[in-house]
Amino acid sequence: PTKQDLLGQHWVITAGPTMEAIDPVRFISNHSSGKMGYALAAAAQARGAKVTLVSGPTQLDAPQGVQRIAIKSAGDMLAACRDAMSKPADVFIGAAAVADFRMKEVASQKMKKTGDSDEMQLTLVKNPDVIATLSQEKAAKCMVGFAAETQDVIAYAKSKLERKGLDLIIANDVSRSDIGFNNDDNQVTVLSKDQQWTPPKGAKSALAKELVELIIQYQSTQS
Ligand code: C5P
Repeated sequence: PTKQDLLGQHWVITAGPTMEAIDPVRFISNHSSGKMGYALAAAAQARGAKVTLVSGPTQLDAPQGVQRIAIKSAGDMLAACRDAMSKPADVFIGAAAVADFRMKEVASQKMKKTGDSDEMQLTLVKNPDVIATLSQEKAAKCMVGFAAETQDVIAYAKSKLERKGLDLIIANDVSRSDIGFNNDDNQVTVLSKDQQWTPPKGAKSALAKELVELIIQYQSTQS
């Protein structure tokens, strides 16, 4: 049996893509299966944590015993997270692929092709950075983010860790076709301000257990 060392802790985890409406039938989104976030939710729950999973649209079933809150847009995701952490959580993990931009104004009717132009322009505005905002608000004692990069993985992850005010960042090389995105396998490097760890490559479910263990170890060095 898994040891129940997270009893009494509340973990909030985001997962999946966000979906930003263009008009009633179209949207802007990201590639994300949600598998990594769901696996983390299951792993934290298995060790006794109360887990709230704030999830964009995915094909996945909510893990046993995890409270899933289904959202679509980044704005909804931020609101749901704030709601879940009105009392600060122990750990927040941002595993969602949040859309960076949304429509400045969502069209209320289906946008029509016009005969006179082969081009079409959409005006987008920046979405809030969910994890950076929550980090500033001290929504959780330990803030963990992801950094999916295609080059200079460690350097970019390090700068994100600092810019977003995170405790830990989990860096993922998404240029490799054998890991990440829709894959069941993943390999990551975890960075804190002054340390770095590379758990073995493996199934997202096994990796999630390693990552939960690492977060627990990190928590114990902070208190
Ligand atoms: O988009 P970026 O690579 O900066 O994402 C890194 C981390 O920030 C991820 O943990 C992601 O879930 C989070 N993020 C967020 N809100 C955004 C963009 C990214 O929470 N608008």
